[in-house]
Amino acid sequence: MVYININELKVGDILSEDLYNDNGAVLLRNGTKLTTFAIERLKLLGINSLYVEGEIDNDIKVQSLMPNSFKNRIASNLKTISISSTVYNAKNVVSYVLEAFKLNNVSLDYMENRTDETYLFQHSIAVAEIAVIIGKALNLEEETLEDLATSALLHDIGKLVSRKDLVKQLEMKLDDKDENFLYKIHPFLGYSYLYNFPEIKATVKNGILFHHINENLQGFPDAIAPQKRKPYIFAKIIQIADAYDNARHFNGTNNPALALEHLKSGCDTLFNRTIVESFLEYAPVFPGSLSNSVGETKN
Ligand SMILES: [Fe+2]
Ligand SMILES: [Fe+2]
Repeated sequence: MVYININELKVGDILSEDLYNDNGAVLLRNGTKLTTFAIERLKLLGINSLYVEGEIDNDIKVQSLMPNSFKNRIASNLKTISISSTVYNAKNVVSYVLEAFKLNNVSLDYMENRTDETYLFQHSIAVAEIAVIIGKALNLEEETLEDLATSALLHDIGKLVSRKDLVKQLEMKLDDKDENFLYKIHPFLGYSYLYNFPEIKATVKNGILFHHINENLQGFPDAIAPQKRKPYIFAKIIQIADAYDNARHFNGTNNPALALEHLKSGCDTLFNRTIVESFLEYAPVFPGSLSNSVGETKN
């Protein structure tokens, strides 16, 4: 299988992963031969890249650590902002990752097909998986990993909660058109939403509030002054997992190698060096089955 940019797709290419909508329903099945219509539809859905069968490397099968059925359930619980279900799902994320460690089968090669609709949910799940891998590499205890996974699954919950309700609750004035402002307060919105859930630990909430704070304490939300920013290790891990996952999907070539360069070059300013080094132990330095934007295949 080959992970290729949408613009490189050709009529007759065969999909090698199921493609889902945000309700977890299959849009296109693994094995579907792509038509002109299907390719245009995929572009309209906002898909940047996806897996198709490749002649050169048919033997390579890049697999997710977690089954799609489980990931669909997590996505559906996030969509309805079901906090108790998400806490339960976090425990299972940890189980899957620890099982992969036992089997010596941990890899960050896998990149799923994403649409604009499903991006946030798939991103949250990927960040949780990556965060737990980093946490395990840092020898965190299983219970701590479960809290880390909860924090990671919920890290962008501020983008999902009802802004109107929160704005009312926080007595803030908010211009709905100000997307940049909304983006910059999403960690605070998420934290504020979870404030009403005493069963969610302070460390989990800290991870959400500070996941856009850099190693040099720059970042956002701006409302919290740098001297008052105290990111706990969860926030530092989630920040790195988040940056990696976004960079590998958004860097234009969908190339994890460039995302890794972003992490390496940001050590000590953007990112915590010890955590990046733990992450690099499991990162795909030579990503398998990857086709870049000029159509070369890298193994
Ligand atoms: Fe975020
Ligand atoms: Fe994020």
